[in-house]
Amino acid sequence: MFPRVLFSGTCRLPEFNSMDLAVDVIDSPARMRELSDTFREAAPPLGLVPTMGALHEGHLSLIRRAVSECASAVVSIFVNPAQFGPGEDLDTYPHTFEKDLEVCREEGVSAVYAPSVGQMYAKGFDTWVEVPSLASGLCGPCRPGHFRGVATVVAKLFSACKPDRAYFGEKDYQQLVLIRRMARDLDMGVEIVSCPTVREKDGVAMSSRNVNLRREERENSRSLSRGLFRARELLGEGEARAAVLIQAAREELTKACVEIDYVEVVDSETLAPLETVQGSCRMVMAAKIGATRLIDNISLVP
Ligand code: PAF
Repeated sequence: MFPRVLFSGTCRLPEFNSMDLAVDVIDSPARMRELSDTFREAAPPLGLVPTMGALHEGHLSLIRRAVSECASAVVSIFVNPAQFGPGEDLDTYPHTFEKDLEVCREEGVSAVYAPSVGQMYAKGFDTWVEVPSLASGLCGPCRPGHFRGVATVVAKLFSACKPDRAYFGEKDYQQLVLIRRMARDLDMGVEIVSCPTVREKDGVAMSSRNVNLRREERENSRSLSRGLFRARELLGEGEARAAVLIQAAREELTKACVEIDYVEVVDSETLAPLETVQGSCRMVMAAKIGATRLIDNISLVP
């Protein structure tokens, strides 16, 4: 099933003249490795911000942090077919490549790594990275193969860009935890830096998929953060039972008529479900609004 999705994907990079842009755009892993060596020899550390493009304020916060903390910062832009299942939104995923390059240039990014699908997954590609204990719950059942695709592409991005640090948003919390484990287990020597979720003024977490929401759906999407904030408020009032906090969050989602996938309170590192808020834990949720699946999470500190 997978190769059909993989090799039918076309490279959608628009034609551009890299001479017009004051940021190096690299499309081959070999050339990227060379450039990364040059950056690191000139002055470490080298930071990487992996993205699928359609850059928004959430990405900007990662890019700004990488640029401010590292001598050189690379942004990768690659819409990874391996992390989209059949029937998911690969074909409608927003593409704003030239605008993204402009943003990277303005933010002082040293290079953009934008390989084609063919360069990332040559014919016969058959090596995968899996972190089953962290991929099997939460979004795992609803998106079979998704985290395998994420872990594999991030491992490949690390091989090509050879970063000292890589920056990921807490918005995709399961992804963040899984990549941190992969980097640790495979001795990748990359420090995984987590950055707080950036929210719109009304609380909605920034996501490239928000542009797909119609007006009413956008309004209903506020229920996710409302649910999380309500749970945190209850915790502040002394309620530590996960079931009660989950119920309160679910009520917000139900009022907005969104299709709940899951709402759980989990351990921050193992993602194991908890019955009581204690130690470091998170409330995580996923819901479908129309055709768009959204996720959000918040830390719960007793
Ligand atoms: O979070 C994302 O945008 C993607 O999952 C990532 C990490 C760039 C891998 O394709």
